[in-house]
Formats: sequence, C-alpha cells, structure tokens
Amino acid sequence: MRIHRILAMGMFFITLMANAENVIRVSTNQTDLVLKVADDGRLYQSYLGEHLKYEADLKHLPQGTEAFLTHGMEDYFEPALDIRHADHNASTLLKYVKHEVSKTEDGATQTTILLEDPVYKTQVQLYYVAYAEENIIKTWSEIANMEKKAVNMAKYASSMLHLTGGKYYLSEFSGDWADEAHITTTPLAFGKKVMDTKLGSRANLFTPPMFILSVGEPATEESGQVLFGQLGWTGNFRFTFEVDQKDGLRVISGINPYFSEYELKSKETFRTPEFFFTLSQNGLGQASRDFHDWARKYQLKDGQEDRLTLLNNWESTFFDFNEEKLLGLMGEAVKLGVDMFLLDDGWFGNKYPRKDDHQGLGDWEETADKLPGKVTALVEGAQKQGIKFGIWIEPEMVNPKSELYEKHKDWVITLPNREEYYFRNQLVLDLSNPEVQDYVYGIVDNLMTKYPGIAFFKWDCNSPITNIYSPYLKEKQQHLYVEHVRGLYNVLERIKAKYPKLPMMLCSGGSGRIDYKALSYFTEFWASDNTDPLERLFIQHAYSYFYPAKSICCHVTSWNRNANIKFRVEVAMMGKLGFDIKRADMTEDEAQYCHDAVVNYKRLRPCIMEGDMYHLYSPYEGPHVVNQFVDKEKKQSVMFTFNTNPRYGERNAPVKLRGLDADRMYRVREINLWPGASSWLGCNDKTYSGQYLMSVGLDVLTTHKLLSHVLEITAE
Ligand code: DGJ
Repeated sequence: MRIHRILAMGMFFITLMANAENVIRVSTNQTDLVLKVADDGRLYQSYLGEHLKYEADLKHLPQGTEAFLTHGMEDYFEPALDIRHADHNASTLLKYVKHEVSKTEDGATQTTILLEDPVYKTQVQLYYVAYAEENIIKTWSEIANMEKKAVNMAKYASSMLHLTGGKYYLSEFSGDWADEAHITTTPLAFGKKVMDTKLGSRANLFTPPMFILSVGEPATEESGQVLFGQLGWTGNFRFTFEVDQKDGLRVISGINPYFSEYELKSKETFRTPEFFFTLSQNGLGQASRDFHDWARKYQLKDGQEDRLTLLNNWESTFFDFNEEKLLGLMGEAVKLGVDMFLLDDGWFGNKYPRKDDHQGLGDWEETADKLPGKVTALVEGAQKQGIKFGIWIEPEMVNPKSELYEKHKDWVITLPNREEYYFRNQLVLDLSNPEVQDYVYGIVDNLMTKYPGIAFFKWDCNSPITNIYSPYLKEKQQHLYVEHVRGLYNVLERIKAKYPKLPMMLCSGGSGRIDYKALSYFTEFWASDNTDPLERLFIQHAYSYFYPAKSICCHVTSWNRNANIKFRVEVAMMGKLGFDIKRADMTEDEAQYCHDAVVNYKRLRPCIMEGDMYHLYSPYEGPHVVNQFVDKEKKQSVMFTFNTNPRYGERNAPVKLRGLDADRMYRVREINLWPGASSWLGCNDKTYSGQYLMSVGLDVLTTHKLLSHVLEITAE
C-alpha cells in the first residue's frame, strides 16, 4: 500500500492512495464493506456482506456499482447527490482523490474517502466509522462547494449502499399517536419504495427513521442475512429502496429533500446526518443485540449508567393539581420504592395559567395559585422524603394564548398572510433563529440555576411544524426544515455541555421523535402514550430491535384494567420502569405487589438494562410473548412470559431459553408473585443445566388469558 502522507497526532492517522488492487476495506469483526477505485478513477462498492477471512480473496470481487451515484451521468436510477451548479449545469462526476484511515477517540476505525469532480471541483468526503466488536458501521457524507458562486443541492444523501441477492424484504415501522411502530414486511420488486416524513419537529409521528431489510429470504430471530438501518436526524428523513433491472438494490438514506433544496455558498461544507447500520448473518436477534451494545457504549446519553425508576403524575392528575396534591404523590412514590417523582404538564403560566392544553405554553413561570412555594417547595419536599424530583417541559412550542406569543410573534413559525391552524392548540418556535435557540436553552438553564435540585427533565414536543414560514430565514424558506433541526442540536449541545450528567427523557406525544442522534442528548424516550399492556407488547417489541431496554420508558398505568396490575407491571419491567397510576386506585395487595416488583427490577438491573435480549416469542406470531434477558457473564437471566389471548385446549411446547452457558447449572425461580401466593409452575425452584434450558426448555406457557410469569434464572 502506498503511503501518501503520515500525520502523527497522537493517534493512528494515515493518508493513503488505494492499494495495488485499489481496494478500500471497511471492516467490523462480522462485516466487510469493500470499495474499489476502478480504472476510470471512480469509486465503486464492490461488496457488502459477511466479513471475508482471506485478504487474498478481495481481488476476485467484482467492480460493483458506483458507490455514491450522482445526477447527470450514466446512471438511470435514483442518485445520492444532485447538485445544480452555478452555471445551471446539473451534472456531477466524482473521482477518487485519496482516503485516510484513523482511530476515533472512542477506539473505532474511521475511513474517510475524498472524491472530487474534475470539472466543478465539488468535493465529497465519505466517512465510515467501523465499530469492530459491535458490528456497527456509522457513515455520512460531507459536500463542499469549491465553486466561486453558490450551488443548489436538490439531493444530498448521507449514505448509499448497494445490495445484491435478488430478493429483498423490507420491514418498516409505521403508526400514529398511541399506535406507534407497527411492523410490516413487504418484498421489494423492481422500482422504488420510499419511506419518509415531512412533519419537521414531531417528525416521526407516523414512522421513525429505522428499517430492517432481509436479503434472500425474510430473516427470523435466529437466521438469515439482515441489515438494520437507522438515521440520526431529528427531522424529515427519507429512505429510498430501489431495485433495478438487474435485481440490484440501492438503499439511499438521508435528510428528506422535500422542500429542502439547500443553497451551499462558495467554500461552504454541508455535513449530512449519520446513518448507522449493522449487517447480521444470524437473523434479527443478533442485529438487535449488536445495536443495543453499541448504543449503550457509544451513542446513548449515559448509556452505561443506571436509570431512575419514577412515579409520574400525568395520568393521575392531568392538569388538576396543586402543591399539596403533589407532595402527597411524592409520598406514594416513596412507598412504591421508586427513585423519583416526575411532575408533568400544567405547572406554569400566570396571565394564561396552563389549566388545559389551550394556553400558557411558552410562559415558564410557576402558576402562583397552584404552586405558591414554587418549584423550591417541590424540590425540598422530594428531598425531605428521600426521592429525586424531575419536571416536564415543552420548550420548543408556544400556545397562541400566551405571553410569549404576545411578545414574540417573530419567534414563531407561522405564515404571515394566512389564518393560523393549530396542532394541539400550539405552534412551533423558529429554532433557525439563534435568539430563539438562546431562549430555549435558557428555559432549562434558568430552571437549573434557580432549582439545582431538579434531577431530571421530560422534554416534550407535541406539534409537527405547521404554518410553515420562518420570519427569520426570509427568502431562504427552503432551509427551514434543516436549520430548525440544526438549531435544536445547538440547544441540546449547550445543555449537554453545561449539564453533562442530567438525565432527560425524549418525548413527543409518545415516540413521535426518536432517533440515535437525539438519543446522544437524551438518556431515554417515551415509547407511547398508549400504555395498554397488550398494545405495549407490540410497541416495545418493535422498538427493542434498535433500542436497549434502559432507553425505552415504560410506565404502569390504568389503561386496560382487564389486565391485572401484575401483567401491566411485568410488561413495563421489560423497559425502563415507571408508574403513572393513583395509589387510591390500588388495593393493599396491588400496592404491595408493585413495591416488591420494583425491588426485583432493581436487583435484575444487570440483565434487563445491560444484558442481552432474546425475543423468544414475538407478539406478531401468536398469543404468547416471551422475552429473555441474560447478563453479560451469563450468571443471571430473567424471562418474561405473557399469555395474551390463547385458545382453549391449545397445546404449547416448552420454551427454549437462549444465551446461557450450556455447562453451568441454573436455579429457576418464579418471582413477582402475588402477595401470599406461591408458584404453581413445575419448574419453580428446580435446577437445570444451561444445555437443558436451551435445548429442552421449560413448560411455562398456559391457556389462561392475560396471565404472566417472571422467572429468574441464576447460576449456582
Ligand atoms: C404528551 C406526552 O406524551 C404525555 O406523556 C404528557 O406529557 C402530555 N404530553 C402532557 O401534555
């Protein structure tokens, strides 16, 4: 390999020309992405697949398809890049210039490839960061305008990947408020399938930026080649899947170019969002565990730290509370044994008190007659009772009936010459405006400065961008969707810099805004306002493909009382456990059961929060759902079993466990038992080898509707 230049910067960093075979290899322990520079000087993706053991084989790989296809040249399908140059010529041709390999601060291997248009000098850098152990590749592009005048980018993808294999099955996650993340799998045939969103702020209301793509045949939990993709962009995204005439598939990921043609000034560089993917040869389970491991280690805010169990007041009070009621609820939180009390919406506004969702949003002063002692009384009240205090905000939004709107209509995204229309009676603040960014940052900073005892924020976002017009951007309206998200990141970056350890929940009327860039600022997200445990089994299942349990907030509420509290708690225990329920609605036994479950949950932290998750029975496959978590040392495991709507007389096979040490003995114990009850499961308090548990399994499924069991499996 010819070394072009070596820079010693305390880390491995070399600039290279492509080697004798002109091969650039991006590898994890499981995957290879092989790029080649062809005789025409362009960059091709010649392979994406299982890690190749023998370097000598690389020369046999075909040239493949151009890696980052551009508009205006020989390709007849969807391009990754489409630039209108200053002279109105819309063609771009990219040639390889050089590439660099370096180690990132977190120990991953970064490959940066520089491409350039010989005519317009447009530069594109392709970045690939490979996390070897976790088998994740993070990739994005940077586009630099080297012309003397501005250019317009009509399309500017983060990533383009090519797959071969002829048969592809795409799983998407779509839904709506309280109905999030239905998994639908469809085969891809010739032509295009586009998944995108145009909602701006609550961008993922109908679908989050993630997909699963099986190659060859639909993957199962344990088998099949499958690619998981996720775009780190908290705004409009677009994934394009296009099958060409030779059955090749291109996957293009990035910002949705819809109403977002971006003008790039001379010498300006545009960095696209990061696209994260993993390619598993062993089905969905492996890919999901790789995503969890990577996220905890590298991406999720405080990914390796503990999480706070909590009691939220939203469903028990809605807007109807005062200081006394809240202090009483804190007492209930203490009895429950949770770590924190979380005050939700409705605590602010004086000229227009926030008595419902029609007014007050934007006026972040405590409502005097509701909270005479202000937040101080609540923080102190919590401290006295020995728990933490967290608070809800929705800082990017405003009700037209608010002092903020009266004072600063120029800060609001709204059309100047039309009647306003509202989503949940509110409007979105214009985060492209740096003054507004300061204001939004100030909401958190002022609260933290006044009340340093605040231990947690729930950051909500209930409206998409409506009435789309930015008073700040004036003639650059088509930049709004992009600049709004960049403005949000500026704010979140400042908050993270000043309060690096402050846990925050990302909420958007449920999970209407969820992606891995946002989760670098948030410790967790609210999966859905729908807390019916039967619905939650589906919603949590879908999210658990990409997100580890500790990031998925799951609260026990009174939704669907046909399911008893044990069933509801056990569904919530498979994520980050919280409660949003009135003690007065519970019997003594129910309250005792909840308390004991919190104790168990905290003890099981190494498996549920940090361990490996196995989907043993999916809610999509029948009337039983079983998930198992195993700690990394294989010493402790917990299995959650739910019988949802089984048939009379149904026959069920034993459930085979996963991830244990075959040669170890494990004691199986049913936990989370009802106060005073004992287990009637035959396997309770018996010892089995790991091999037996994994190859013979346990008889735990029943034909009782809405019945759940939790088994703790401990190495002896
Ligand atoms: C929507 C959230 O999803 C709920 O949990 C709650 O915080 C409300 N907003 C408050 O307005």
